[in-house]
Amino acid sequence: MLPAMRVAALLLAAGRGERLAASVPKAFVALAGRSLLARSSDALAACAAVEWILPVIPVGESERYRALEERELAGATKLLPAVEGGAERQDSVRAGLAALPVEAEWVAVHDAARALVSSQDVARVIAAARNEGAALLAHPVADTVKRVREGRVLETPPRDECWAAQTPQVFRVELLRKALERADAEGFQGTDDASLVERLGRPVRVVPGDPGNRKITDPDDLRWAEARLGRG
Ligand code: CTP
Ligand code: MG
Repeated sequence: MLPAMRVAALLLAAGRGERLAASVPKAFVALAGRSLLARSSDALAACAAVEWILPVIPVGESERYRALEERELAGATKLLPAVEGGAERQDSVRAGLAALPVEAEWVAVHDAARALVSSQDVARVIAAARNEGAALLAHPVADTVKRVREGRVLETPPRDECWAAQTPQVFRVELLRKALERADAEGFQGTDDASLVERLGRPVRVVPGDPGNRKITDPDDLRWAEARLGRG
């Protein structure tokens, strides 16, 4: 039998949710009666391979988080004390990485905004990371993708090579630390974590995921998710 992978999940919940424009930061917004943060945490906790869950919360929101913890996460196992994130997503990843348990060998970075991820997909992407050290969930895009700058098309990548990246994205802890250090040194801001690892020239395995693992970004996404949960 293969040795167990010791996996900590980094639950990124430190964004403000400007596009959702709710009265509270996005991760605290309720989706059919339960916050995005709690729903994401449930999905990660339900995956046997995840040993720890480390929430990264917005600066200045620890009171609100404490209340949410009491209300929605009282029985939660695997949950570590939350840490505060930073201004950009990459800053939040950095803060989370610094607070991981020393025993963690693998990190699964997950957007709290992807509250409908299935624990099966979490398990699949973790297993897929084992060989090369990095893997992400993604799904093929339906539309033809154009690279555009200043209103003009630069190029049209072949559609069968275009995938939309999701989370979790899973890495050896040391690999993501190194990738983040490099990105910081070079002033690179990624919109996901795999892109930092790609810049090291290291392979990243793609695991076909469920398009239902959609990031809740604007009010339409929230309505879509509520409908999907059967209450919309
Ligand atoms: N995130 C984070 N720290 C930041 C920015 C984002 O932890 N400084 C997290 C968000 O909480 C979210 C995930 O990264 O779970 C994806 O980001 P996004 O969907 O852009 O969320 P927000 O940044 O909150 O939304 P917006 O960009 O509309 O303000
Ligand atoms: Mg954002």
